[in-house]
Amino acid sequence: MKLRPLAAKSALVTGASSGIGRAIAVALARQGANLCVVGRNAQNLTETADAVRQVSSVESIRIDLTDDNALGSLLQCSHQLNGILVHSAGIFHQDLMAQASVADFDRQYAINVRAPYVLTQLLLPKLIATQGQLVFINSSAGVVGHRLKVGQYAATKHALKAIADNAYGMVAIAIFECPLSRLLSSTEVAA
Ligand SMILES: NC(=O)c1ccc[n+]([C@@H]2O[C@H](COP(=O)([O-])OP(=O)(O)OC[C@H]3O[C@@H](n4cnc5c(N)ncnc54)[C@H](OP(=O)(O)O)[C@@H]3O)[C@@H](O)[C@H]2O)c1
Repeated sequence: MKLRPLAAKSALVTGASSGIGRAIAVALARQGANLCVVGRNAQNLTETADAVRQVSSVESIRIDLTDDNALGSLLQCSHQLNGILVHSAGIFHQDLMAQASVADFDRQYAINVRAPYVLTQLLLPKLIATQGQLVFINSSAGVVGHRLKVGQYAATKHALKAIADNAYGMVAIAIFECPLSRLLSSTEVAA
Protein backbone atom coordinates (compact mmCIF):
# COMPACT_ATOMS: atom_id res chain seq x y z
CA MET A 1 0.00 0.00 0.00
CA LYS A 2 1.29 3.46 -0.91
CA LEU A 3 1.93 5.80 2.00
CA ARG A 4 0.15 9.16 1.67
CA PRO A 5 1.58 11.15 4.59
CA LEU A 6 -0.14 14.39 3.54
CA ALA A 7 -3.60 12.85 3.17
CA ALA A 8 -5.04 15.10 5.88
CA LYS A 9 -3.43 18.22 4.43
CA SER A 10 -4.35 20.81 1.86
CA ALA A 11 -1.86 22.97 0.03
CA LEU A 12 -2.07 26.18 -1.93
CA VAL A 13 0.67 26.53 -4.54
CA THR A 14 1.28 29.72 -6.52
CA GLY A 15 3.08 29.54 -9.84
CA ALA A 16 1.47 26.13 -10.23
CA SER A 17 0.80 26.63 -13.95
CA SER A 18 4.46 26.10 -14.80
CA GLY A 19 7.89 24.82 -13.89
CA ILE A 20 8.79 24.37 -10.26
CA GLY A 21 5.34 25.27 -8.93
CA ARG A 22 3.70 22.63 -11.12
CA ALA A 23 6.24 20.01 -10.04
CA ILE A 24 5.66 20.85 -6.38
CA ALA A 25 1.87 20.72 -6.76
CA VAL A 26 2.01 17.28 -8.38
CA ALA A 27 4.53 16.03 -5.81
CA LEU A 28 2.37 17.19 -2.90
CA ALA A 29 -0.67 15.56 -4.48
CA ARG A 30 1.19 12.27 -4.79
CA GLN A 31 1.82 12.49 -1.05
CA GLY A 32 -1.93 12.78 -0.57
CA ALA A 33 -2.45 16.54 -0.18
CA ASN A 34 -5.52 18.24 -1.64
CA LEU A 35 -4.44 21.10 -3.86
CA CYS A 36 -5.41 24.64 -4.69
CA VAL A 37 -3.34 25.55 -7.74
CA VAL A 38 -2.87 29.20 -8.69
CA GLY A 39 -1.68 30.75 -11.95
CA ARG A 40 -2.73 32.96 -14.85
CA ASN A 41 -2.32 30.90 -18.01
CA ALA A 42 -5.56 28.94 -18.39
CA GLN A 43 -4.22 26.13 -20.53
CA ASN A 44 -1.16 25.57 -18.40
CA LEU A 45 -3.18 25.67 -15.21
CA THR A 46 -5.59 23.09 -16.63
CA GLU A 47 -2.66 20.82 -17.48
CA THR A 48 -1.44 21.06 -13.88
CA ALA A 49 -4.93 20.44 -12.50
CA ASP A 50 -5.34 17.40 -14.75
CA ALA A 51 -2.05 15.95 -13.50
CA VAL A 52 -2.98 16.58 -9.87
CA ARG A 53 -6.47 15.15 -10.32
CA GLN A 54 -5.03 11.79 -11.22
CA VAL A 55 -3.84 11.35 -7.64
CA SER A 56 -5.75 13.83 -5.47
CA SER A 57 -8.44 16.53 -5.47
CA VAL A 58 -7.74 19.94 -6.93
CA GLU A 59 -9.22 23.41 -7.31
CA SER A 60 -7.77 25.90 -9.81
CA ILE A 61 -7.77 29.65 -9.37
CA ARG A 62 -6.66 31.99 -12.14
CA ILE A 63 -5.52 35.33 -10.82
CA ASP A 64 -2.81 37.91 -11.20
CA LEU A 65 -1.09 37.83 -7.82
CA THR A 66 -0.06 41.47 -8.16
CA ASP A 67 -3.73 42.49 -8.07
CA ASP A 68 -4.62 42.93 -4.40
CA ASN A 69 -8.34 42.89 -5.18
CA ALA A 70 -8.04 39.51 -6.88
CA LEU A 71 -6.18 37.95 -3.96
CA GLY A 72 -9.42 37.80 -2.02
CA SER A 73 -10.60 35.04 -4.34
CA LEU A 74 -7.96 32.79 -2.81
CA LEU A 75 -9.94 32.85 0.41
CA GLN A 76 -12.44 30.62 -1.41
CA CYS A 77 -9.71 28.05 -1.39
CA SER A 78 -8.39 28.96 1.99
CA HIS A 79 -11.20 27.18 3.83
CA GLN A 80 -9.44 24.08 2.57
CA LEU A 81 -5.98 25.37 3.33
CA ASN A 82 -4.81 23.07 6.01
CA GLY A 83 -1.14 23.20 6.40
CA ILE A 84 0.91 24.20 3.39
CA LEU A 85 1.37 27.44 1.44
CA VAL A 86 3.98 27.37 -1.33
CA HIS A 87 5.05 30.62 -3.00
CA SER A 88 6.60 29.62 -6.31
CA ALA A 89 5.27 32.35 -8.64
CA GLY A 90 8.08 34.60 -9.73
CA ILE A 91 9.65 36.38 -12.67
CA PHE A 92 13.22 37.07 -13.70
CA HIS A 93 14.61 39.97 -15.68
CA GLN A 94 18.25 40.38 -16.53
CA ASP A 95 19.95 43.67 -17.41
CA LEU A 96 22.85 45.92 -16.52
CA MET A 97 22.02 48.70 -14.10
CA ALA A 98 23.10 51.24 -16.72
CA GLN A 99 20.20 50.25 -18.95
CA ALA A 100 17.77 48.34 -16.73
CA SER A 101 14.38 49.99 -16.43
CA VAL A 102 12.79 50.85 -13.12
CA ALA A 103 9.54 49.49 -14.52
CA ASP A 104 11.18 46.04 -14.78
CA PHE A 105 12.37 46.38 -11.20
CA ASP A 106 8.85 47.28 -10.05
CA ARG A 107 7.33 44.31 -11.92
CA GLN A 108 9.77 41.86 -10.32
CA TYR A 109 9.28 43.38 -6.88
CA ALA A 110 5.50 43.15 -7.23
CA ILE A 111 5.43 39.41 -7.94
CA ASN A 112 8.62 38.20 -6.25
CA VAL A 113 8.28 40.11 -2.97
CA ARG A 114 5.05 42.01 -2.45
CA ALA A 115 2.69 39.27 -3.64
CA PRO A 116 4.01 36.52 -1.33
CA TYR A 117 4.04 38.98 1.56
CA VAL A 118 0.45 40.11 1.03
CA LEU A 119 -0.80 36.58 0.39
CA THR A 120 0.92 35.25 3.51
CA GLN A 121 -0.70 38.02 5.55
CA LEU A 122 -4.09 37.18 4.09
CA LEU A 123 -3.82 33.47 4.87
CA LEU A 124 -1.93 33.86 8.14
CA PRO A 125 -4.88 33.20 10.49
CA LYS A 126 -5.63 29.91 8.75
CA LEU A 127 -1.96 28.95 8.63
CA ILE A 128 -1.45 29.61 12.31
CA ALA A 129 -4.65 27.77 13.24
CA THR A 130 -3.46 24.71 11.34
CA GLN A 131 0.18 24.99 12.47
CA GLY A 132 0.96 25.57 8.85
CA GLN A 133 4.12 25.49 6.85
CA LEU A 134 5.21 28.22 4.51
CA VAL A 135 7.53 27.56 1.60
CA PHE A 136 9.21 30.35 -0.35
CA ILE A 137 10.94 29.35 -3.55
CA ASN A 138 14.03 31.48 -3.54
CA SER A 139 17.17 31.43 -5.68
CA SER A 140 20.92 31.34 -5.35
CA ALA A 141 20.52 35.03 -6.27
CA GLY A 142 18.82 35.43 -2.89
CA VAL A 143 22.14 34.66 -1.23
CA VAL A 144 24.73 35.91 -3.71
CA GLY A 145 23.81 39.21 -5.32
CA HIS A 146 26.87 40.24 -7.23
CA ARG A 147 26.49 38.29 -10.48
CA LEU A 148 26.44 40.40 -13.62
CA LYS A 149 23.04 41.75 -14.72
CA VAL A 150 20.93 40.19 -11.99
CA GLY A 151 20.90 43.10 -9.55
CA GLN A 152 17.17 43.74 -9.66
CA TYR A 153 16.20 40.06 -9.41
CA ALA A 154 18.77 39.43 -6.68
CA ALA A 155 17.40 42.37 -4.70
CA THR A 156 13.92 40.86 -4.81
CA LYS A 157 15.15 37.44 -3.75
CA HIS A 158 17.19 38.91 -0.88
CA ALA A 159 13.99 40.66 0.23
CA LEU A 160 12.10 37.38 -0.02
CA LYS A 161 14.69 35.73 2.21
CA ALA A 162 14.15 38.46 4.80
CA ILE A 163 10.42 37.82 4.73
CA ALA A 164 10.94 34.08 5.23
CA ASP A 165 13.43 34.71 8.02
CA ASN A 166 10.85 36.82 9.82
CA ALA A 167 7.86 34.51 9.48
CA TYR A 168 7.71 33.80 13.17
CA GLY A 169 4.86 31.76 14.53
CA MET A 170 5.20 29.00 12.01
CA VAL A 171 7.77 26.96 10.20
CA ALA A 172 8.98 28.88 7.16
CA ILE A 173 11.21 27.19 4.65
CA ALA A 174 13.15 29.17 2.09
CA ILE A 175 14.35 26.99 -0.76
CA PHE A 176 17.34 28.36 -2.56
CA GLU A 177 16.94 27.07 -6.07
CA CYS A 178 19.96 27.09 -8.34
CA PRO A 179 19.59 26.20 -12.03
CA LEU A 180 22.96 24.52 -12.41
CA SER A 181 23.50 22.48 -9.31
CA ARG A 182 19.88 22.25 -8.13
CA LEU A 183 21.48 22.91 -4.78
CA LEU A 184 18.90 22.77 -2.04
CA SER A 185 19.22 24.24 1.39
CA SER A 186 16.65 25.39 3.84
CA THR A 187 16.28 27.81 6.69
CA GLU A 188 13.93 26.85 9.45
CA VAL A 189 12.38 29.37 11.73
CA ALA A 190 11.09 27.62 14.79
CA ALA A 191 7.56 28.31 15.94
N1 LIG B 1 13.96 27.87 -13.01
C1 LIG B 1 15.07 28.23 -12.42
O1 LIG B 1 16.18 27.91 -12.87
C2 LIG B 1 15.03 29.02 -11.13
C3 LIG B 1 16.22 29.31 -10.49
C4 LIG B 1 16.18 30.02 -9.28
C5 LIG B 1 14.97 30.40 -8.75
N2 LIG B 1 13.81 30.14 -9.41
C6 LIG B 1 12.56 30.61 -8.80
O2 LIG B 1 11.64 29.54 -8.78
C7 LIG B 1 10.32 30.04 -8.92
C8 LIG B 1 9.62 29.31 -10.05
O3 LIG B 1 10.40 29.44 -11.22
P1 LIG B 1 10.05 28.61 -12.54
O4 LIG B 1 11.32 28.33 -13.23
O5 LIG B 1 9.12 27.51 -12.21
O6 LIG B 1 9.31 29.75 -13.38
P2 LIG B 1 8.21 29.64 -14.51
O7 LIG B 1 8.17 28.29 -15.12
O8 LIG B 1 8.42 30.83 -15.39
O9 LIG B 1 6.87 29.84 -13.69
C9 LIG B 1 6.56 31.05 -13.10
C10 LIG B 1 5.18 30.93 -12.51
O10 LIG B 1 4.86 32.19 -11.88
C11 LIG B 1 3.55 32.56 -12.30
N3 LIG B 1 3.41 34.01 -12.30
C12 LIG B 1 4.28 34.92 -12.77
N4 LIG B 1 3.77 36.15 -12.62
C13 LIG B 1 2.55 36.01 -12.05
C14 LIG B 1 1.53 36.91 -11.64
N5 LIG B 1 1.65 38.24 -11.80
N6 LIG B 1 0.40 36.41 -11.10
C15 LIG B 1 0.25 35.06 -10.94
N7 LIG B 1 1.18 34.16 -11.29
C16 LIG B 1 2.32 34.63 -11.84
C17 LIG B 1 3.41 32.01 -13.71
O11 LIG B 1 2.05 31.91 -14.02
P3 LIG B 1 1.51 32.05 -15.54
O12 LIG B 1 2.55 31.43 -16.44
O13 LIG B 1 0.22 31.27 -15.49
O14 LIG B 1 1.35 33.49 -15.78
C18 LIG B 1 4.10 30.65 -13.56
O15 LIG B 1 3.20 29.70 -13.03
C19 LIG B 1 10.42 31.54 -9.15
O16 LIG B 1 10.17 32.20 -7.93
C20 LIG B 1 11.87 31.72 -9.58
O17 LIG B 1 12.37 32.99 -9.22
C21 LIG B 1 13.82 29.45 -10.58
